[in-house]
Amino acid sequence: MKKEIKKILVTGASGQIGSELVPILRNKYGDKNVIATDLKIPLDNKLFESGPFHLLDIRNYETIESIIKNYKIDTIIHLAAILSGIGETKPEFCWDVNMTGTVNVLNLAVKFELAKVFIPSSIAVWGPGMPKKAPQDSILQPATMYGVTKVAGELIGDYYVKKFGLDVRGVRYPGIISSETAPGGGTTDYAVAIYYDAVKFNKFICFVSEDTTLPMMYMPDCIKAVLDLLEAPFEKLKHHTNFNLGSMSFNVKQLVESIRKFKPNFEIVYEPDFHQEIADSWPDDVDDSAAREEWNWKPDWDLDSMTQDMLTKLEARLLR
Ligand code: NAD
Ligand code: SER
Repeated sequence: MKKEIKKILVTGASGQIGSELVPILRNKYGDKNVIATDLKIPLDNKLFESGPFHLLDIRNYETIESIIKNYKIDTIIHLAAILSGIGETKPEFCWDVNMTGTVNVLNLAVKFELAKVFIPSSIAVWGPGMPKKAPQDSILQPATMYGVTKVAGELIGDYYVKKFGLDVRGVRYPGIISSETAPGGGTTDYAVAIYYDAVKFNKFICFVSEDTTLPMMYMPDCIKAVLDLLEAPFEKLKHHTNFNLGSMSFNVKQLVESIRKFKPNFEIVYEPDFHQEIADSWPDDVDDSAAREEWNWKPDWDLDSMTQDMLTKLEARLLR
């Protein structure tokens, strides 16, 4: 029997994706029906003011359990994680947060017979030697601890689908670009910081080289993917936790050219650091035909439309 989404728990809600996803979920499902949680208090009061917010360490099974019971949660969107850059400086910590959190969420979802669980994966599941356009079903040999936890998260999620009949879903997000909340220590963060610095200083020091090419996505498409995949009929899904998700792919030179269409004197300096090796181990692009076929995935944004929107939003906020 199909279980409805009525009460959603969002972990990692104060982060880059959560802080923009929660308001949209509250609009769709009702303010009181979306319980935002994070280890840290959100920078923006909106998450507090528009509905319930709880401090929660995702490694704490009992606290998650009490929130599920108290609010009669039926769906979990599990965003809390340590991303690739910080993960490489603290690999044990990254494993602990990412795996303990995911296993806690899945075990509690089985215990309370939840309707759905959404856990994002990442392009970090791939490692060196992959084809430039990563296939949907392929060998996964990540070179980062973050990537290792994302592969393990996909596999254990799929195991819970088969073993316990739990409805677990997930996409391999590209680098997410957004203007509201700064990203939390990832390798693709340069593609966000470049817009902030273009607006503030008309100059950017980039931690990867100009020909570094990665798959990227603008936040509205990132959010659309969560909503669309959560609503897709389970019977139509052949994949569950690991959908490749394409949108745009560009190198830093092309990103700079796009910004210069709006800010012709924008300057860039390249100072690659440890992030370069991580970026080089990820594919340039992904084949997302499974997502297109199984739940009609189609992105709306391209590089120039995103650049124009990012610069407009950041200028309105940072230069007022
Ligand atoms: P983020 O770093 O901006 O936010 C993650 C949030 O998790 C933070 O607010 C942090 O405080 C919280 N958190 C960390 N440890 C926690 C703990 N022990 N308990 C509870 N909360 C904790 O990350 P994001 O970009 O919003 O990413 C959300 C999810 O999407 C992650 O699973 C990430 O791997 C995935 N993802 C993100 C991107 C991207 O480019 N942003 C790309 C691919 C996948
Ligand atoms: N954007 C993320 C990172 O760079 C990829 O999952 O860590």
